[in-house]
Amino acid sequence: MMKLLLLGPLLFVSVWVHTAIAMESHEPHHHVSTLMMKVQRQLEAVQTLQESIKKKLEEVHAVQSNSHTTQQAACVGNTYSLDTQSSFVMKDEIVTMNNGHSIRMDDILYGYDWVFESRRLFSVGSWLGVQSQQDPADLVVIQQLLWDIKPKVIYDIGTNVGGSAIIFAHIMSQYAKPGEAIIVSVDPKHYSINWDDAAKQLCPKCTAVDENPLWNDYVQFVQARSVEPQAIAALEAAIAKYGGPVIISVDGWHDYPEVYEECVTFAKYVTVGSYMIVQDTKLDRIFNKPGPRQAVYDCLVNNTNFVIDKSREVFLYSQHTDGFLLRVR
Ligand SMILES: C[S@@+](CC[C@H](N)C(=O)[O-])C[C@H]1O[C@@H](n2cnc3c(N)ncnc32)[C@H](O)[C@@H]1O
Repeated sequence: MMKLLLLGPLLFVSVWVHTAIAMESHEPHHHVSTLMMKVQRQLEAVQTLQESIKKKLEEVHAVQSNSHTTQQAACVGNTYSLDTQSSFVMKDEIVTMNNGHSIRMDDILYGYDWVFESRRLFSVGSWLGVQSQQDPADLVVIQQLLWDIKPKVIYDIGTNVGGSAIIFAHIMSQYAKPGEAIIVSVDPKHYSINWDDAAKQLCPKCTAVDENPLWNDYVQFVQARSVEPQAIAALEAAIAKYGGPVIISVDGWHDYPEVYEECVTFAKYVTVGSYMIVQDTKLDRIFNKPGPRQAVYDCLVNNTNFVIDKSREVFLYSQHTDGFLLRVR
């Protein structure tokens, strides 16, 4: 663009000079010097024009690069959210589809996180008629994990209305009889109340968890915060009675301090070869602040007994990326 602007006037002058010379080539000799002076003046005019164009372009570039910096700054914020904080498996892959669109894997997966949250999809699902806040992909992974480990004790932090508890109980019922294994499910509020007011409309056919016999057969509900003494006592009593393997599912209050405290407190109860599942690590990115995922990282700094098991993220999409913590020693 700049070259065009600079070359344009030059081209014009050169055509003008050639035409003038051609026209005056048969005139007497003294006319040539007059002509040369005219050309000289025109060249000076072009030079002045060039300089003013150059100045103008520099001004335009300055404005452009300023706005570029602003755009980049905005982008850096996004990049922080979209890339730096991404922990999806294969997040950097570019997926080219048969409609010709190419899109980053991270945008597909993180985009779904946004859809899930903004449309309150966490309240539309149910298991055996009980409203469950589990994401379907993670639910299959957790089912696979439970089936592999066959835990005798699951500490279910965050009962809500019993969704995760009934799922765990259902799977448990396939490998253990009532009285052989247990889920200790804890929540400071009663399981008859859903924290999400919209859940009733979103899952109109959902029923109360205690109408299902699995609840009575496999679940011990403790109305308390996960780290309160009566909740810990129930967990320890369950371990004393049923033994291991033990799984801890962290799905209570999803703020950094609570999750960090739960990770530190309950790590010792997880048996070797089993898992702590820290749910909703996606929230760090959604809220753009340290949350469950950062709590995991910080918790593991001082605990080398655990590794983050990425092999559990088989569907690539997970709301608990870096949250499947395998106890290795
Ligand atoms: C995301 S919901 C749990 C969803 C449930 N696990 C499911 O899959 O359907 C979070 C629940 O954690 C509970 N909660 C909040 N703080 C808690 C704490 N300190 N200990 C245990 N549960 C807590 C809330 O009352 C809420 O019911």
